[in-house]
Amino acid sequence: MSVQKTVFGRLPDGRQADLITLSNGRIEAQISNYGGIIYQLCVPDKAGKKANLILGHDGLEGYLVKGDYHGALIGRYANRIAKGRFTIDGKDYQITQNEGETALHGGVTGLNQKLWDIVELKDGEEPSLTLACFSPDGEEGFPGNLRVQVVYTVTANDGLRIEYFAQSDKKTPINLTNHAYFNLKGDPAQDILDNLLCIHADAYTPIDADSIPTGELAPVQGTPMDFTSPKPIGRDICADFAQLKKPMGYDHNYVLNASKEELPCIAEVQDPQSGRRMRVYTDQPGVQLYTANFLDGSEMGKNGVPLQQHHALCLETQNFPDSVHQPGFPDPFYGPGRDYHYTTIYQFDIG
Ligand code: GLA
Repeated sequence: MSVQKTVFGRLPDGRQADLITLSNGRIEAQISNYGGIIYQLCVPDKAGKKANLILGHDGLEGYLVKGDYHGALIGRYANRIAKGRFTIDGKDYQITQNEGETALHGGVTGLNQKLWDIVELKDGEEPSLTLACFSPDGEEGFPGNLRVQVVYTVTANDGLRIEYFAQSDKKTPINLTNHAYFNLKGDPAQDILDNLLCIHADAYTPIDADSIPTGELAPVQGTPMDFTSPKPIGRDICADFAQLKKPMGYDHNYVLNASKEELPCIAEVQDPQSGRRMRVYTDQPGVQLYTANFLDGSEMGKNGVPLQQHHALCLETQNFPDSVHQPGFPDPFYGPGRDYHYTTIYQFDIG
């Protein structure tokens, strides 16, 4: 059990970013207060050999240029808001558009580009790091002064728990997540298409040509979207199925099945080669399965290995994308009288 803090690097304005290592003696998470990024997550394979499972860059510099949100905390609103626009109590708001007309992952400067305050570092059986950041009223167009806290904990049973808290003094949409790219092989030079994936979701939210949900909850049964029982990620990824064409793979929100459990297991990934298994627990209603479709080898990853398409998968726990426009989706508006709080755990063992 240990907690350590070292210097990660300097931002262009001279501020120092730190790197915090949380270890329970078996798994070890390295997290920066810059964007709250998970820099490394070292987990043993079936032979007990540890490797980092998180795709990303070497050092702070790679994270400073506009990238693919590697390992970062995403907000104020993860995923897409159509035309970057929404209305609250008759008032229109315009969020900065950063993907054509769409606002993606919080606009041009999201929470992933903030230097968060380190509020607390706790050692013990379950070492943890508490980060906090402030987003002023009007930032990127969002209403309300927003205070966010995220607690990262390495649990006693080999999980990385992420707890999100936020409060706003005005009604505002909130959707926070972490954008870690997992490669359970621990080898970024290999793809993850043989990983067995199971998602406890009988439906997903189909998307239009701009990757905005149409509002429909479509059954996965009988389609390549079906992961209700374990299936290699690559089995249907190239299927002749319109939803998979434009995004070049999976980039869809799954509608998680209702559960009586407080923190249900919503997905499971297993890598046959290393034996590593990851179970995902969350109390959010959705998860974005993204198979790193837009990585094309042009960006350099850790140890000089380029970041390649389908060499990782993201399971971004979240509210449904564009929920600000869809009355049939879970309510994304928070503010006075409604604070934001949820928990996700990525838990590891050998399957
Ligand atoms: C999410 C989106 C993708 C893509 C990545 C970041 O997963 O759904 O379309 O924007 O983030 O590259």
